[in-house]
Amino acid sequence: MSFLSKILSALRGESTAVNGLHKPLGPNAEAIIQRDHRVTSSAYTRGYPLVVERARGAHVWDVDGNEFLDFMAGIAVASTGHAHPQVVKAIQEQADKFLHICLSDFYYDVGVQLAEKLNAIAPFKENARVFFTNSGTETIEAAIKLARHATGRKRFIAFHGGFHGRTMGSLALTASKTTQQAAFFPVMPGAHHAPYPNPFRPVLNTRPGEDQGEAVVRYIEEVLFKKQVPADQVAAIFVEPIQGEGGYIVPPRSFLPALRALCDRHGILLVADEIQSGVGRTGRWWAVEHFGVEPDIVCSAKGLASGMPLGALIARESVMSWQPGSHGSTFGGNPVCCAAAVATLDVIENGLMQNAAQVGGYLMQHALELAARHDCIVDVRGKGLMLGLEIADTTGEPVPELRNRIVDEAFHEGLLLLGAGESVLRLMPPLMIDEATVDTAVTRMEAAFNRAEAAFG
Ligand SMILES: Cc1ncc(COP(=O)(O)O)c(C=O)c1O
Repeated sequence: MSFLSKILSALRGESTAVNGLHKPLGPNAEAIIQRDHRVTSSAYTRGYPLVVERARGAHVWDVDGNEFLDFMAGIAVASTGHAHPQVVKAIQEQADKFLHICLSDFYYDVGVQLAEKLNAIAPFKENARVFFTNSGTETIEAAIKLARHATGRKRFIAFHGGFHGRTMGSLALTASKTTQQAAFFPVMPGAHHAPYPNPFRPVLNTRPGEDQGEAVVRYIEEVLFKKQVPADQVAAIFVEPIQGEGGYIVPPRSFLPALRALCDRHGILLVADEIQSGVGRTGRWWAVEHFGVEPDIVCSAKGLASGMPLGALIARESVMSWQPGSHGSTFGGNPVCCAAAVATLDVIENGLMQNAAQVGGYLMQHALELAARHDCIVDVRGKGLMLGLEIADTTGEPVPELRNRIVDEAFHEGLLLLGAGESVLRLMPPLMIDEATVDTAVTRMEAAFNRAEAAFG
């Protein structure tokens, strides 16, 4: 292997280490990966060499016949499970009618049906208007434009650890890893950041009777607004009600209500980025609902259409009043994706959201038991089927290498996991899993922990 290929391979998250964990699991995977590495972008970060042949429900099979349990759902996308029959049927039926006509310019029923449904489940009382996109980042871009349009203001506030996407506007709000912005500065000007309230690793001092949530909001008011960012220039605050890529962090109960009050005091729009946490994953339609707060704008994508590329910007009618032509998209709201989303929301409403709450509780209980047996798990948190296990050493310091090793070992045990934040394992299976599936996953996870801990002494 040449020096350059070694660097490229390291950048892709592959290891040239001798433990063999990153070797493809069979000859068919090996052949595809070799071809892939000659022609696909070096920006892709493949943690482990999974080459998928097919997937059903929470099961994935690779091209060499190996079976895996999927506890990452294609990064929180396969909400109803892989190839849910009702979703597949809706896609097939719509594909047979027409594939595209452009919702920005014409009308079709399935687009209206989906907007009606999103209006019905929007986490605010006011009537909602919906703009459709193709992805999470496009939804955030649309929210940035809408917030500027609605307020006439130019600046934004987001949070450290937050992930909102990788296009120049959303990237300016993203503050998850420095690599994401490093080579691309300058991004959109006017984005400012505050700490995200992390009860497990607080960064701000609190006053008596105050928690991290309140301290963060006070920091915005007393530091950002007084020293750097005039509050009357801020169009919107973007927040993940439960932080995803940043480490599956559940903020204190006080945080979102205090943030809502701050926005109200200064005429700022509150944007809930529910791209990872929304669509039933936490046991409610939207994670923000756990905190009794009504945002002005909700951004959705990922699990919305069970894997078909679709995003939705859902805003209060009084906010989304931009004139025709202010924004548009050729593919946004593609009819096949809308049909998949209508079916997805139906399946989630009729059982999976409740299942996420119930089986999520069962998974949480098992994760806590796992933590009791493994000292390296220092925190277990989350809601529904959005759970995070923080990995640290005996002094509480994060150990990303151990977390990565657990993910690799889990792959070899037949369990697909992903990390988040500096040293967190995230569990985000499809919402249709049952308790027996959790039992199998926990057995495989336990084996992965044992092997990883043994390797680390
Ligand atoms: C909270 C959040 N917002 C935005 C995005 C960006 O979504 P996409 O990758 O579809 O652009 C993600 C993706 O992980 C996300 O988790």
